[in-house]
Amino acid sequence: IKRITTHVLQKMKVDGERISMLTAYDYSMARIFDDAGIDIILVGDSASNVMAGHETTLPITLDQMIYHAASVVRAIKRCFVVVDLPFGSYQGNSKEALSSAIRIMKETGAHGIKIEGGEEIIESVKRIISAGVPVMGHLGLTPQSIYKFGTYAVRATEEAEANKLINDAKLLQDAGCFAIVLEKIPAALAKTVAESVEIPIIGIGAGKYVDGQVLVMHDMLGINKEFKPRFLRRYLDLYAEIYGATQAYIHDVKAKDFPNDNEQY
Ligand code: KIV
Ligand code: NA
Repeated sequence: IKRITTHVLQKMKVDGERISMLTAYDYSMARIFDDAGIDIILVGDSASNVMAGHETTLPITLDQMIYHAASVVRAIKRCFVVVDLPFGSYQGNSKEALSSAIRIMKETGAHGIKIEGGEEIIESVKRIISAGVPVMGHLGLTPQSIYKFGTYAVRATEEAEANKLINDAKLLQDAGCFAIVLEKIPAALAKTVAESVEIPIIGIGAGKYVDGQVLVMHDMLGINKEFKPRFLRRYLDLYAEIYGATQAYIHDVKAKDFPNDNEQY
């Protein structure tokens, strides 16, 4: 199998082939996604929400991200694995950002890291890339800044924020980022960004005029019952499937139907 590299991803943009990306946080799910042919697995700090049950992405630690990422990397043969630098592991100190990135690369075997922000963190981006670590940017609704935004509503609907976002995308490209995630911004703005830079733009809630799409696996598989934003397409109702299977199992145990004669030694 031909492995996905930053060069393959760049070629996909040039060829107009859309890039598919999903989050994963453990070995078993990562193995299915990789076998199925996903291009990129993101070990997102959304693990803080969907794996650990926190309300925001802020509490997850670098050690916890490393545990998830190492589990994912053990499963994959083909896809490119990107790991989020968690809140507090890179902001405001490029030296600390570099050591966080190096820990992820050394201790997990992942292929690159993702960090939130533009101009504010550009020194960290440059320093990490200068060490040979591929960096994916992340602009728009950056969940580590949720208390600054105060809401999960669509970002960059006003001109000043839209202009800053376009400028940040160019700064990230010039710093050497291999791709950028755009989260929850108007489709027209995402299109402008995708046309303004040479590197792949991967959207979540950023419309169809970008070079790839990413979703959180729990959302796309319908494991989260309540979370139904407009941008989400659900491919399974796994909550209902697992709920039903659990009830069937409980029933069979209570009814002394499981195990039967063929299911015992
Ligand atoms: O942590 C995450 O899952 C992400 C994606 C939503 C892009 O950053
Ligand atoms: Na994230």
